Amino acid sequence: MTKTFSINDLVGYKQTRGLAPLVAITAYDAPSARIVDEAGVDIILVGDSAAMVIAGYSSTLEITLADMAYHTAAVARMKPAGLIVADMPWLSYHTGPRDAVRNAAQLIRAGAQCVKVEGASDSRLQVIEALLDAEIPVIGHIGLTPQSAVALGGFKVQGKTSEAVAELVEQASRVEEAGCSALVVEAVPAIVGRQITDATTIPTIGVGAGDGTDGQVIVFHDMIGLENRFKPRFVRRYSDAYSDHVDAVKRYATDVRSGEFPNKDESY
Ligand code: KIV
Repeated sequence: MTKTFSINDLVGYKQTRGLAPLVAITAYDAPSARIVDEAGVDIILVGDSAAMVIAGYSSTLEITLADMAYHTAAVARMKPAGLIVADMPWLSYHTGPRDAVRNAAQLIRAGAQCVKVEGASDSRLQVIEALLDAEIPVIGHIGLTPQSAVALGGFKVQGKTSEAVAELVEQASRVEEAGCSALVVEAVPAIVGRQITDATTIPTIGVGAGDGTDGQVIVFHDMIGLENRFKPRFVRRYSDAYSDHVDAVKRYATDVRSGEFPNKDESY
């Protein structure tokens, strides 16, 4: 039986010396959950990036709590060994701790083992504390926080001035003190990703944050090349799934049009 990766494994990660960096990846549905599970990842993030990757929106702001619960349940039904983390979507926790707990409960009931919230403002720390008080483990997210992309002036690399770096390090320690189990750090220079990592006792999981974080997370569809319209610098493509799929559908169309499909073996 595959060994599961639990929230306790995550919390204790940084204290256990000699471990390889954490491997996290998104999944939004049953097939992608099965694939990443079979590949043996530690953490499966049901990211609100599903808004852009799956539903075709231009930001993550459009996805609803019901959508996130649907995606989370599809992943959880596959009973993966990795820790299932669900993103709390925009406005599901911005209106206060009570709403946040009620909304997070829907993701936990859908099968998430942990939720992720963006930001480190005072009100966000209160939300994190309320979630923990309701026994819901939380992962933080700082740097480029896509739910605040409008306020940040777009999808831009963060931490480019010494003041901004100091603010990020401060945010990381606030999120840690509030009780988060880990911290996603997005789109910062590699040196800043390392600095934040050195300053915290909880594991950092980088996306576009260089090689100094305790782990890496990537969007599944970017990594397999199924999303091929735009390739951020920090994405490494391990296959060309989009072209492979176009090719497969073209061959299917050719076979149907030529009468070659279905053949006798494929017919009742
Ligand atoms: O929604 C998402 O996929 C994310 C990752 C990029 C960290 O938050």
